Amino acid sequence: MDIPAYMAHSAARINAAMPGCVRALKGAHPRLGKAMAYSLSAGGKRIRPALMFAAYEVFGRKAGDILPAACAVEMVHTYSLIHDDLPCMDDAGLRRGRATCHKVYGEAGAVLAGDALLTDAFTILLCSGYPARVRNNDLLKAAGILAARAGARGMVSGQAADLDAEGFLDRQNGRVIARRKVEALRLLAYIHLHKTADLISAAVEMGAVLAGAGARDVAALAAFGRDIGLCFQMADDILDAAGDGKKLGKNSSDARNRKLTYATLLGVAEAGRRGAALMRRALANLEKAGGRPAAKARLTALAGYIYGTDR
Ligand code: IPE
Ligand code: IPE
Ligand code: MG
Ligand code: MG
Ligand code: MG
Repeated sequence: MDIPAYMAHSAARINAAMPGCVRALKGAHPRLGKAMAYSLSAGGKRIRPALMFAAYEVFGRKAGDILPAACAVEMVHTYSLIHDDLPCMDDAGLRRGRATCHKVYGEAGAVLAGDALLTDAFTILLCSGYPARVRNNDLLKAAGILAARAGARGMVSGQAADLDAEGFLDRQNGRVIARRKVEALRLLAYIHLHKTADLISAAVEMGAVLAGAGARDVAALAAFGRDIGLCFQMADDILDAAGDGKKLGKNSSDARNRKLTYATLLGVAEAGRRGAALMRRALANLEKAGGRPAAKARLTALAGYIYGTDR
């Protein structure tokens, strides 16, 4: 199964559609529109849309049906990155291989671009055309999932906890070490679940809901998406500690910001072992879903690719 080709194909779909998502917002302030387009068009792996498409296809549908919904998730994700990089958050200068939005459009410009991307993700999700087999009721459900996972019970609380977590870290002989380990592990599980896994599981769950899947299948796919999301953040933390910033297209900032991560808490080797266990749980959850075996196999391969990908 050619997963790199699948990823490239779905990313190409998103990249081609993104400029139209901004153009559709007629009347937007020109500089605001430019800042939005700047961050949306900077590339990125587009893993959330790929997962949404693959989940939709598990139920015998064709990914092209739900392109606006996949763009909406990518808009929410892009807003979260713009805000994450701000000086008051992670203070990062490089994102997706380019200067961060605030470096180009100023802090206020970047805050506003994020505000608009979040809000207009719902314009694009709910006000675009879909084939009749995508039911309005399922679109509403998908919007509810996206709102809930991105909001105060989801991603934003993960980011808030991430900023709070600094208190668990100390410096000893120039190295960052963790104090109160059990408590720190509990907090870290909360941070990863919300700041990262919530939006990834929303993408997978929205794919299933838009395909009209039943409640049991939707729940199994949402659980699969959550575990993939947890693995993904674990890999992101390991790469921040040990990866190549040039290849990643973003600066390492966790050590500088004294972030609580699995790499700082447990070391890279133990973090890797926990990631492998989570991946096994993800696949067990996927097993519980119905749908087409060949399309499920693609989702399995996609999960492995995303976790193991050479970022
Ligand atoms: C980065 O997400 C932020 C995290 C939640 C770890 P991605 O690694 O998916 O970023 P892009 O979209 O490819 O730039
Ligand atoms: C970002 O996590 C999570 C969100 C944007 C919601 P990180 O701060 O670890 O992401 P990177 O490493 O800057 O991409
Ligand atoms: Mg961050
Ligand atoms: Mg960051
Ligand atoms: Mg990171």
